[in-house]
Amino acid sequence: MEPFSDETLNRTHSCGQLRESDIETKVRLCGWVRSYRDHGGVVFIDLRDRDGITQVVFDAEGDDDAKARYELADSLRNEWVVSIGGTVRHRGPDRVNPKLPTGQIEILGDSLTVLNKSDTVPFTPDEFTDVSEEMRLKYRYIDIRRKEMTRALRLRHEICRTMRGVLDEDGFVEVETPFLTKSTPEGARDFLVPSRLQQGTFYALPQSPQLFKQILMVGGLDRYYQIVRCFRDEDLRADRQPEFTQMDLEMSFCSEADVMNVTNRILSDVCRLIGREYPQTVPLIDYSEAMERFGKDAPDLRFGMELVDIADLAGRTEFGVFRGAIEAGGCVKAICVPSGGEMTRKETDALAGWAKGFDAKGLAVTKVAAADKLETGIAKFVSPIAVELIERMGAKVGDLLCFAADNSGIVHRVLGELRCKLAAERGMIDSENWTWCWVVNWPLLEYNDNERRWDALHHPFTSPRGEDIGKLATDPGAVRARAYDIVCNGTELGGGSIRIHSIDVQKRVFEALGITAEDAHAKFDFLLDALRFGAPPHGGIALGLDRLVMLLAGGKSLRDVIAFPKTQRGTCPLTGAPAVVDDNQLTELDLRVIAPPENG
Ligand code: AMO
Ligand code: AMP
Repeated sequence: MEPFSDETLNRTHSCGQLRESDIETKVRLCGWVRSYRDHGGVVFIDLRDRDGITQVVFDAEGDDDAKARYELADSLRNEWVVSIGGTVRHRGPDRVNPKLPTGQIEILGDSLTVLNKSDTVPFTPDEFTDVSEEMRLKYRYIDIRRKEMTRALRLRHEICRTMRGVLDEDGFVEVETPFLTKSTPEGARDFLVPSRLQQGTFYALPQSPQLFKQILMVGGLDRYYQIVRCFRDEDLRADRQPEFTQMDLEMSFCSEADVMNVTNRILSDVCRLIGREYPQTVPLIDYSEAMERFGKDAPDLRFGMELVDIADLAGRTEFGVFRGAIEAGGCVKAICVPSGGEMTRKETDALAGWAKGFDAKGLAVTKVAAADKLETGIAKFVSPIAVELIERMGAKVGDLLCFAADNSGIVHRVLGELRCKLAAERGMIDSENWTWCWVVNWPLLEYNDNERRWDALHHPFTSPRGEDIGKLATDPGAVRARAYDIVCNGTELGGGSIRIHSIDVQKRVFEALGITAEDAHAKFDFLLDALRFGAPPHGGIALGLDRLVMLLAGGKSLRDVIAFPKTQRGTCPLTGAPAVVDDNQLTELDLRVIAPPENG
């Protein structure tokens, strides 16, 4: 490889820019060799950069220089980095590629410099679908050369820029909060970082900036925001990462409506980036209604199949499963699957097995054979109520009815999941029709059967509704929270609340949560202190940025929209993290690994 001058790097255009109107222009492009084809005396190179692909031609015909350039061009291989100079010309009518924005033109090369060679790549960006995700993450730099990845990362940038624009206009101030901190209250496991200077102690990485943003309000900052990394050591799913990003904001002297309005304006501008209209008015749905009708606190409103309470009818049958649930104080609900009657016995049996994964004891089904006739499954048990049942469910001939009988938690979980699963599998979701809603009027607390105590549904700093405060000690389950979640297509994109700003109320909520005064002091003394010194009424929200980008980019996994994500097992194939560390490092920290990994 020859040394090259800085001029070689003076690009006139990107590889996605040139059009017919540039014909005859002298240009210089730099990029990666996406492909090369030798047509006997003429080499065609597809040159790629983050903007697109441009075809470059080197023709051996001409003087000695032309021949030398041709030979050099002929030696190029995939993913070599080159600089080319030349003149834009039309490709000729039969060689136009209508699929490429630059497909009308090509560059007749008159200079070629190899800036760097590449070893044979483990996969080319065009082959990514044949490659495992592990490989894509290990060689992430090659994966990022792919247009889908570049597009997602640039969209992510545009989304952040747009958010900052709205927030800046509204007087929000971006403030950074610490990563090396104390445990925060979002309820996941903490990632811990051992301290060298204070041996035997640990920092916790923040699960969110929740406490700091509240303290900023006590500090009189009035309006704070931050696009910030949060760390949660939880079991990973497609829509969860151990480190993820929030667009986090907090404001003083505000009501729920104020926070929701700012959020609506942010989302409206962000949706416009991809040409989507955000609704003028986003419907508000009570938490209890979301659970009753959709079985989930993040309801997907793009399709029907709502949960219908049939306990009164079920109580008139002789079906032990139904009667047992009712006698135990539970409920019986059903969904009607349009044309679900076409499902085979094998398929409906499989549903019962699947339901057990959600702690259900089974899943009963039957098919609508006529306006007054049910067939197969539990038909013989429900025949006495057939007419009323079919009418209540709004069912048509050929539909399938699916029933769950249990405590309401299990019934909602299993039918809520079933509804979404069947809608996806049976093509009932119109991907063009996005539905947004705010879920409001959450309960403040939920009973944790395993631990036999009340837990905060959002976090312990969420304010109860003023009129419910009296019930904290007497009827904790009935206390409603001043909390709100924004949901799109069944995904929770963000959540927040009006906070407790009175130390007295905060103490009463801790009491209801069974957090002792000592515990509260040990964990949150700094916040409790702050509440004593002039805390203004305040509230806020955090949007899951990765989830939002995934939605807008049309990705299937958060990993598609994060530059360097973790795998399902929490590892980073690129760097090999997490990794064993040197004994020296451990000694400095006064730590010892009791059972080192066998291959460590
Ligand atoms: P919450 O815990 O609801 O609220 O988080 C806010 C939003 O962050 C996103 N999110 C995640 N995204 C990817 N991977 C994860 N593991 C993950 N966990 C959460 C979700 C969620 O809606 N401090 C409060 C906010 C507040 O009250 O202002 C909080 O963190 O989209
Ligand atoms: P069994 O009486 O256990 O044979 O169940 C009869 C049918 O009812 C089977 O299709 C089971 O899958 C279903 N089933 C059992 N328990 C429940 C339940 N709790 N809710 C709904 N269906 C159930």
